[in-house]
Amino acid sequence: MNASASIGVTGLGVMGRNLARNFARHGATVAVHNRSAGRTRALVQEFGHEGTFVAAESAEEFVAALERPRKLIIMVQAGPATDAVIEEFVPLLDAGDIVVDGGNAHFADTRRREAALRERGLHFVGTGISGGEEGALNGPSVMVGGSTESYAVLGPLFEGISAHVDGEPCAAHIGTDGAGHFVKMVHNGIEYADMQLIAEAYDLLRQVAGYTPAEIAAVFRRWNAGRLGSYLIEITAEVLAHTDQATGAPFVDVVADAAGQKGTGRWTVQTALDLASPVTAVAQATFARAASGQSDLRAAYRGLPGGTTPPLSRTEAERFTSQVEHALYASKVIAYDQGWTMIQDAAAEYGWKIDLGAVARIWRGGCIIRAAFLDRIRAAYAADRDLVSLLGEMEFAMEITDAQVPWRETVASATRRGIPVPAISAALAHYDTLRAERLPAALLQAQRDYFGAHTYARVDRPGQFHTHWATPGRPETTN
Ligand code: 6PG
Repeated sequence: MNASASIGVTGLGVMGRNLARNFARHGATVAVHNRSAGRTRALVQEFGHEGTFVAAESAEEFVAALERPRKLIIMVQAGPATDAVIEEFVPLLDAGDIVVDGGNAHFADTRRREAALRERGLHFVGTGISGGEEGALNGPSVMVGGSTESYAVLGPLFEGISAHVDGEPCAAHIGTDGAGHFVKMVHNGIEYADMQLIAEAYDLLRQVAGYTPAEIAAVFRRWNAGRLGSYLIEITAEVLAHTDQATGAPFVDVVADAAGQKGTGRWTVQTALDLASPVTAVAQATFARAASGQSDLRAAYRGLPGGTTPPLSRTEAERFTSQVEHALYASKVIAYDQGWTMIQDAAAEYGWKIDLGAVARIWRGGCIIRAAFLDRIRAAYAADRDLVSLLGEMEFAMEITDAQVPWRETVASATRRGIPVPAISAALAHYDTLRAERLPAALLQAQRDYFGAHTYARVDRPGQFHTHWATPGRPETTN
């Protein structure tokens, strides 16, 4: 087998197969391998006309087909399967070779693997690939981790196959070791929040405005032409316009209302808790999925008293729709701001130098949260690399100001009517928390000192203090 392949893909499930095809379509000679060789043969048989594939029946053949420094992409299930494939190939590789993990791996696993392979002179590059099967084939958003040396080799390949917006690739070196997988995880967390916010807006238009799914599809199509324009809004309009073939009913009404989750949103929340980074919209979205699946609890609560839902007139429904648009947009700004804050918190924790504007740039296309909105975020960070919050950018701040009344009216109306809006209300609560002059955390500190002597700071002088609650009159201790 002569070493002619500039890139190799092992693991030819739909994502791996489509990624291999994408590289081949862009002129690369692509070595392909799969644990069961039948898939390899099927790929070449069905898509061999799209470019140059080198089919490898074994790990040895696969490695032998790769030109130096070897670059192989693992596209298998995150977790132990990835470790198994790494162990299978590493003994066959030489110093300087590059192993890319294109699965949805947990960034902590990637940091562990990167350190282990670095010990053996190899580059391990955790890479977030967003956009699903279609993106893998026609242009994903690619978040590359690992060393700058490995990106010097991988960059042109990934930038070539990624989505492009305004002529710019939606691929970038995010940062070292696990930074690429970390940012992909945050992408998925934001995806959860975005989807939940959209679902809550749909529920309000359905239950309060009294619109049919088809009417709500028209509202989302209209919103998709404006500041809310995004892939998720676009597909929501399509889903809501869809009729179930078997029953003729609106498709959304025949889908069971228990949400699944593969886990990347959960990871985002777990990691955020460790970082003390409040991604409350993502958290509420993740818990909302869990709550929707708790059938016994839901049966126990069903029928308990809630709010009242007086119908709206058509004029009132139109006004309410405008309020919901403001609430959805403002909540989205907060959810994205939380996501970017989490990336900054992680960069500080793990020593990554992440270009926050580049993250927005490469999410403008290819990924699931792709949206024109991301160009606004890119521009905000381009104008001020040290922006602490999106609300520090004038246009976002003005939009949030403009949303104050409708945002609050929407949450109040949902509350009065007993309609759950956990993500929209969490975003509003986060906004009110951060802008508060004084928070009730002062009382928490006093309580903690009372029962646990955990001490507190004062507003009027430096230091940590403890009050001797059991002996009134005794001066407080200064720690
Ligand atoms: C992407 C997607 C993808 C993700 C599922 C989400 O960026 O292409 O985010 O990586 O796995 O679409 O699945 P769950 O909703 O089940 O977590």
